[in-house]
Amino acid sequence: MKTLVLPVDPTTPDPVAIRQAAEVLQHGGLVAFPTETVYGLGANALDAEAVQRIFAAKGRPAYDPLIVHLAGPEALPDVVAEVPPLAEALATHFWPGPLTLVLPRGLHIPLAVTAGGPTVAVRIPAHPVALALIRAAGFPIAAPSANRFGHLSPTQAVHVLDDLDGRIDLLLDGGPTPVGVESTVLSLVTPAPTILRPGGVSREALAAVLGQVDVTGRVFTAEDIVPSPGALKQHYAPRARLTLYQGTPQAVLPALHAAAAQLATAGQRVGLLLAEGDAVAFADLPVIVQSIEIAGGLEGAARQLFTALRALDRAGVTTILARDFGARGLGLAIRDRLTRAAAGNVVKVENA
Ligand code: TXA
Ligand code: MG
Repeated sequence: MKTLVLPVDPTTPDPVAIRQAAEVLQHGGLVAFPTETVYGLGANALDAEAVQRIFAAKGRPAYDPLIVHLAGPEALPDVVAEVPPLAEALATHFWPGPLTLVLPRGLHIPLAVTAGGPTVAVRIPAHPVALALIRAAGFPIAAPSANRFGHLSPTQAVHVLDDLDGRIDLLLDGGPTPVGVESTVLSLVTPAPTILRPGGVSREALAAVLGQVDVTGRVFTAEDIVPSPGALKQHYAPRARLTLYQGTPQAVLPALHAAAAQLATAGQRVGLLLAEGDAVAFADLPVIVQSIEIAGGLEGAARQLFTALRALDRAGVTTILARDFGARGLGLAIRDRLTRAAAGNVVKVENA
């Protein structure tokens, strides 16, 4: 299969391109498209066979359920069995946007989408291309991130092609995605609302609406990670071995410098993931540095994270050392992705 690439304007997508993509979906095909978080790999959520093709294209195990994307809240009763008042409040505050809600599964949703489970994950993406595509298709779109299973999520069309060229029918290229990390997955079927995956909506923003929100333990310690949906130990991984250094920047940066120097001396090609402003202290080392922005609530860092990791891979580094970016705002999502990319390789640095 040849993958057709159609460029689209991210704010006012050409209706002809959207219609062409919608027709591919209507025939059971696969379309990659931009959302505000990352590129998704879409299929008709009501067509079990089309949904199976997503799993085949990604090499994704059938036990990992998919997110169903809607164009508006009026479609929610079609995909879930029940809309609790809390879901309505969250929808009002955060949709369209990077929040996914886990709710009781509606009868029309094939079990392939939910991995056989009684719940379904849903969200309304805040991206004109995604919304236009769902509307033109006329049905909800099931879509995981558009990468091979276990790889980094794609934030640019070229990342999608790197992983899936020839395995999907069509790619809508709407440029880089504005948020850069995946949606926050929030379960409303647990006794208290629980973040299953931190993402584009921060814990603080959710707490402002919910009062209290739990976070599953797997977010913080790689040791806790068990092979349940989406919680595989190595996920979002670059090819190079990655080690995450946690602690205050004052403690972490000298430790990173020492480790990078030692690895470089030992003949490794070392890549560093740093914050803007850190790099000058590493200028004496033969290493490859990618620096991401850390102003404000870490929006810039989130937007640049996956591109920076892919760039290190492309530069052919054999090992990546990454600093931590804290747990505030989008820092929690960044920490989660880096912890999983590290597959347990986390060094906790104490203050001197
Ligand atoms: O931002 C995003 O969420 C992107 C864009 C394309 O929407 N999608 C995305 O999908 O990241 P994916 O499949 O890569 O990650 C979805 C996560 C997985 O961790 C999956 O296990 C979890 O959501 N999930 C899906 N359905 C679930 C359910 N019914 N219960 C619990 N977790 C679920
Ligand atoms: Mg994914």
